Amino acid sequence: MTDIEYLKKYYKGNIEDAIKRLNDGEPVQYIVGNVDFYNSNFIVNKNVLIPRFETEELVLNTINFIKEYFHKEIKVLDIGTGSGAIAISVKKEVSGEVYATDISKEALEVAKENAKRNNVNINFINTNIYDGIKEKFDVVISNPPYIRYDEEIDEIVKNNEPHIALYADNNGLYFYEEILKNIKNILNDKYLIAFEIGKDQGEAINELKDKYLPDSSILLKKDLEGRDRMIFIYNFE
Ligand SMILES: C[S@@+](CC[C@H](N)C(=O)[O-])C[C@H]1O[C@@H](n2cnc3c(N)ncnc32)[C@H](O)[C@@H]1O
Repeated sequence: MTDIEYLKKYYKGNIEDAIKRLNDGEPVQYIVGNVDFYNSNFIVNKNVLIPRFETEELVLNTINFIKEYFHKEIKVLDIGTGSGAIAISVKKEVSGEVYATDISKEALEVAKENAKRNNVNINFINTNIYDGIKEKFDVVISNPPYIRYDEEIDEIVKNNEPHIALYADNNGLYFYEEILKNIKNILNDKYLIAFEIGKDQGEAINELKDKYLPDSSILLKKDLEGRDRMIFIYNFE
């Protein structure tokens, strides 16, 4: 479907205004105000990243891991939840409690609306990464900001989506290291960490895993387009 066809199908207001916004370079999902992701529909606005197809793959693989290896109620943490798309999708399919953090209060407002819209309960926390969280989790999942500041990205993304959701220091690796550094403090003995990653970041994240979680196992997974886009770090013993 072209963007214009998408607008005609889903936009509820004046279509001429919508087409003008599209021509001015605004993403069609922000104009419509919501987007389908995994098995649900989510409100999106300029305060949240538009959830991506590759993130659906992260969610699907994580849910499959959970169903195969955790046969009990589990506790899940989604770091950098944005629209809440990951946390809410996982909560709908897995039994247990889901926590979700974001540093952006505005993003959390959207995530809370989305939880209501999808009839699920999530413990949303406005904090840096997982600062102040004392719980222990079975699963930590995150699609953190991972774009290098000098990386070329599509103008429509750069001009519209929140930069706090996109860019990270240290060649885009900042959040992976910050998350892994002290993650033992918030993990149960048996755990799964699931990350979306940039396509050329696999090796560097493998090194971080060796530094901070040397006894864990790791699986690098490609997305449907054949790019390394997900990493699973786990101990299922
Ligand atoms: C790439 S977006 C992912 C959004 C959503 N989880 C998804 O997959 O569509 C990264 C998110 O991390 C949040 N974020 C950025 N810095 C953060 C920090 N220091 N602590 C917690 N969240 C942060 C951003 O506000 C943004 O919502």
